[in-house]
Amino acid sequence: MRTHHCSQLRASDIGQKVTLIGWVKSARDHGGVIFIDLRDREGLTQCVFHPEVSKEMADLSHTLRDEDVVQVVGTVEARPEIDGKSTANSDLPTGEIEVSALELKIVNKAAVLPFQLDKELSNEDLRMKYRYLDLRRERMTRNMRLRHRITKSTRDYLDELAFLEIETPILSKSTPEGARDFLVPSRMHPKSFYALPQAPQQYKQLLMVGGIEKYFQIARCFRDEDLRADRQPEFTQIDIEASFVSQDDIVNLIEGLLARIFKESLDVEIPVNFDRLTYKDAMNTYGSDKPDRRIGMEIVDVTEDLKDCEFRVFSGAVSNGGVVKAINAKGFADATTGQIERLTQTAIEAGAKGLAYIQARDTDRKTWRSPFVKRMTDAEVEALREKLNIEPGDLILFAADKWEPACEVLGRMRLEVANLRNLLEGNTELNFLWVTEFPLLGYDEEEGKWNAVHHPFTRPIPEHEEALKKGELGDGLLAQAYDVVLNGYELGGGSIRIHEQDLQSAMFDALGVTQEEKETMFAHILEAFTFGAPPHGGVALGLDRIAMLVAGESSIREVIAFPKNNRASDLMTASPSEVDFKQLRELRIKSTVADKPVDPAE
Ligand code: AMO
Ligand code: AMP
Repeated sequence: MRTHHCSQLRASDIGQKVTLIGWVKSARDHGGVIFIDLRDREGLTQCVFHPEVSKEMADLSHTLRDEDVVQVVGTVEARPEIDGKSTANSDLPTGEIEVSALELKIVNKAAVLPFQLDKELSNEDLRMKYRYLDLRRERMTRNMRLRHRITKSTRDYLDELAFLEIETPILSKSTPEGARDFLVPSRMHPKSFYALPQAPQQYKQLLMVGGIEKYFQIARCFRDEDLRADRQPEFTQIDIEASFVSQDDIVNLIEGLLARIFKESLDVEIPVNFDRLTYKDAMNTYGSDKPDRRIGMEIVDVTEDLKDCEFRVFSGAVSNGGVVKAINAKGFADATTGQIERLTQTAIEAGAKGLAYIQARDTDRKTWRSPFVKRMTDAEVEALREKLNIEPGDLILFAADKWEPACEVLGRMRLEVANLRNLLEGNTELNFLWVTEFPLLGYDEEEGKWNAVHHPFTRPIPEHEEALKKGELGDGLLAQAYDVVLNGYELGGGSIRIHEQDLQSAMFDALGVTQEEKETMFAHILEAFTFGAPPHGGVALGLDRIAMLVAGESSIREVIAFPKNNRASDLMTASPSEVDFKQLRELRIKSTVADKPVDPAE
């Protein structure tokens, strides 16, 4: 239907007869002559319909509306000079030429669109309802291209390293990755359900038992959890597993993969050998296991300096076995009451009881605005001044609590200060790092039991294997687990796995898995480990998150063709939706749709 695409013709094509097809983007009437930008996936070409060529064609061109699909046959011409000035458009690859139409065919008319494609639209629901129109926008086409490029680079890179791409079941069995499962009722087995995979974790380990040695998959995963800008109920992982590998092997593999992805999608060289930070150091310094190090504001421990402070919030926390920590938000002493309120609110959401702060207006402590500074000794003030490098104009934020919540609150404060002050505006740095030595187990106060911090198949460090086997549990047990982080986003995580039945069984015991549950839920993997399972490990990267960061977007919805909204709905197809009563009957599911009467004839 065409000889060229719409971003192809150049001055060197002048004089050629060409056929183009695409969508009308903005038809303009210049004194009776219609100009259109004809758009396809690749770009724009200006087409002109001169009445002297054909009156019939010119009349037809007057009926053109945005987004009509048209085919134009014409001659490539140089854009003319008007009053001695060239009308060429240097912003457009095809800006030197235009196509003077000989024939126009309206292939398909478009109704008036629900929104204009060349304007950014803030109503996301409307965009999602008409996602197929939204996708016509240049930004979306670019994002889809980038995502394709990332997937292609991944496949090429892993193929070159002899990884095999293998698909694993979508109708599968519940695997504990920490979220709620999506369930699929089985018609053939009434009352039984498949679970959609939260990740192919057990299958990929079973592939290692199967001797595959190097596996990968661009794997769709499903998790019924609360959604955010970087979370969808279905998302895609670059899922990898390999046998006979160490943590360093996986780290090197992933650094190479990310370097390849950034090179081939953005033509950016990223320096490999990312910094590695233990979980403990990441929490102590940045208050997060996925720190954004571009914003500075490292956390300082002032427990020793304030343990006897007359201000009970501090000394009380210390005598309860807690800590006092602080950050210096440089130059933010002029924070407004509203901004302090906002920070306090964020701290409370993060679990703090309040937010203690000092607005250090000038050098003299008498100029400091703070609810408690008057209750501090000179020695305490001087200790703070030195450790936090307090200078006139600084804002100091404190958290006094048990270690972990205190770190987490200040981690949130760092991000909120950066947000309030636009500290990252225009920042193009790509700050990668690894977070390592995660705890193996975390205690859940509500459930009163230990949970796996990564997942139950993660191996403890060699020094802590015995303790796990003996059931000596605690948050001091460390895992051979690692996360790769970019600019405050967890891009991926993985671990070296348990491959022995006794150790895996001990891990299940630690997590409170009963004998019966072991037999019903995990018999396959426990048994598999008795038949010579190789040592193995792996990782999964969030493809959507990588694509989001490569595309410079702030939500993964912008890099997914048909995403769900934050209520897990697809507004375009209106899914999820009620199903036919007959379908439920077949599945032996008692209808929850109480208002539908049972048809006695069925
Ligand atoms: P994990 O649960 O850390 O590990 O997931 C790996 C990566 O997947 C991405 N991710 C998500 N992306 C979008 N929406 C979601 N709801 C979502 N949940 C996770 C993140 C995350 O880092 N089986 C293990 C991996 C392994 O041990 O090999 C796993 O799934 O980028
Ligand atoms: P109060 O003495 O209770 O009025 O608290 C004085 C200041 O300390 C207020 O700004 C509180 O928000 C703050 N604050 C209270 N508890 C904590 C805590 N655990 N960590 C940090 N600041 C706190």
